[in-house]
Amino acid sequence: MCGIVAYVGPKDAAPILLEGLQRLEYRGYDSAGVAVVAAKALKIRKVKGRVADLAAAVPARFKGTLGIGHTRWATHGVPSDINAHPHPSSDERIAIVHNGIIENADALRQRLEADGVTFVSETDSEVLSHLIARTAKETESLEEAVRRALKLVVGTYGIAVIDAERPGEVVVARNGSPIVLGIGEKEMFAASDVAALVRYTRQVVHLEDGELAVLRADGFSTFTSDARETAKEPFTVDWDTGHYDTGGYEHYLLKEISEQPDTVGRTLRGRIDDRFHIAHLGGLNMDARESRSFRRVKIIGCGSAYYSGQIGAQLIEELARIPADAEPASEFRYRSPVVEADTLYIAISQSGETYDTLAAVQELKRKGGRVLGIVNTVGSAIARECDGGVYLHAGPEVSVASTKAFTSTSAAFALLALHLGRVRDLSPADGRRICDGLRRLPEQIKEMLTQEEHIRELAMRYAKDAAGMMFVGRVRGYPVAREGAQKLKEISYVHAEAYPASELKHGPLALIGPEMPTVAIVPDDELLDKNLTTLGEIRARSGRILMVGHRTADQADDCIVVPKNETELDPILLTIPLQLFAYHAAVALGRDVDKPRNLAKSVTVE
Ligand code: F6R
Repeated sequence: MCGIVAYVGPKDAAPILLEGLQRLEYRGYDSAGVAVVAAKALKIRKVKGRVADLAAAVPARFKGTLGIGHTRWATHGVPSDINAHPHPSSDERIAIVHNGIIENADALRQRLEADGVTFVSETDSEVLSHLIARTAKETESLEEAVRRALKLVVGTYGIAVIDAERPGEVVVARNGSPIVLGIGEKEMFAASDVAALVRYTRQVVHLEDGELAVLRADGFSTFTSDARETAKEPFTVDWDTGHYDTGGYEHYLLKEISEQPDTVGRTLRGRIDDRFHIAHLGGLNMDARESRSFRRVKIIGCGSAYYSGQIGAQLIEELARIPADAEPASEFRYRSPVVEADTLYIAISQSGETYDTLAAVQELKRKGGRVLGIVNTVGSAIARECDGGVYLHAGPEVSVASTKAFTSTSAAFALLALHLGRVRDLSPADGRRICDGLRRLPEQIKEMLTQEEHIRELAMRYAKDAAGMMFVGRVRGYPVAREGAQKLKEISYVHAEAYPASELKHGPLALIGPEMPTVAIVPDDELLDKNLTTLGEIRARSGRILMVGHRTADQADDCIVVPKNETELDPILLTIPLQLFAYHAAVALGRDVDKPRNLAKSVTVE
């Protein structure tokens, strides 16, 4: 949600913090701030607006070799200079930055106010600086002051804390909101995301929930919430700064759409076995017997991850003939789900930090469920929580709207479905058909991308002036339609609805007219004729139709013809033109494509 960065070492902290915040801005972007310590005094600058506005507000002489920074996505209190982090204590000794939500903030605030503390912001986070300042007066170390203060807090947090009286250390802690430490040469970093660290170091350590760390220039120590020291093994991240640049593209989103031949290729690499026509997925930690033992598959994820889960469920049912369905993780965790021993649970997440998905996985684990993760971010909380899984290897996704993670997740599901199918009844011939189809995907995505100009022209014609758009598809096409509508609405703000084509005449057909065009997903599959009949019905109501499929059709006003693969794998390719359509609609409407309003990249709060 929001981004945190912290530094302690021999260099000036401010430029490092600002650079880190720039890299984190995709996580939250309504205000930003930094604090440093120099000569036992805090210096703080914070502004409503973007990191660039903050950089302009930080004076040249903002010296200090220890500091914390934050980019905010407002939850409590409007975006404003005052509500921006860092929050200082009243005596200006302690400053904190916080991600997450303090659920008992109101009660703590009342108690502190009764003790004479004056609050200046509307945020829940400010209670932390006052609580820590109070305990710091009674404790030997900042670490102990933070630990004691956190014992009073109910909620989620990733925090970084500095104390003007102790200018050699930063304390960070995590509960439900990610914190990762970066180990440098006689310097230490911390951040909510490795994106802020990779320019300086690739050696990182993830904190677990309930852990706290003390960072000094010469190293770090980590502790449990009851002050027992923990041993942590650093690992090397293989993402570098190049992954976080726009690489000459106008937007990260276009870069990430264009990367998909490579990213899908990386998801598949080394995992297709031509001898037995099976998939090698070593990370599942399951032998063939175990893989055969499941009678049901339940997939959970949020937003686009959930829609890719619907594609996954369809693949698993078709190839492995195991009943499978997908559900939003955010709903799943609240309905006290029945967890069965013979069900395989699969959690999907690009970031690996989405709170609703993480909480659902934890609930499943608590009830003894077997959970696999399909995750992009190596070492992330969801990946660590799962019993095994498949990493996407798609590289970091920076633009808020998910694109390459969506197609890589769908490709990973195809591998998993192949694996589950081949330990059951999927024939070697069908296994070979799917293996060959998977191998064709990267080239076909590349071919699809060559139609960008045609799609840009269609986006200008259809979406730019539309009152709203309808996306329809049947069975395999329905999750594709849902993802197409999601992309369009989140980045262009054009209202878009997705419906199963079969449901149209049960209600939404009433919306169809010249001002409500339809994008129809019409693959060449066994449902082609039914889909063409639906197009006829839309046409009869004066609805304009853009058909996305494998052929042109008289019933449609315009068509995007997508390369044909195996029927089961077609949804992956059908998604690509919808990404380009949404992108060009958003650009034509002058939207902030990579940072759409009201959204943040990873939703680490409830
Ligand atoms: C949409 C989008 C979101 C995410 C969702 C889950 O383009 O990006 O809907 O898919 O917030 O995020 P992850 O996959 O990080 O768990």
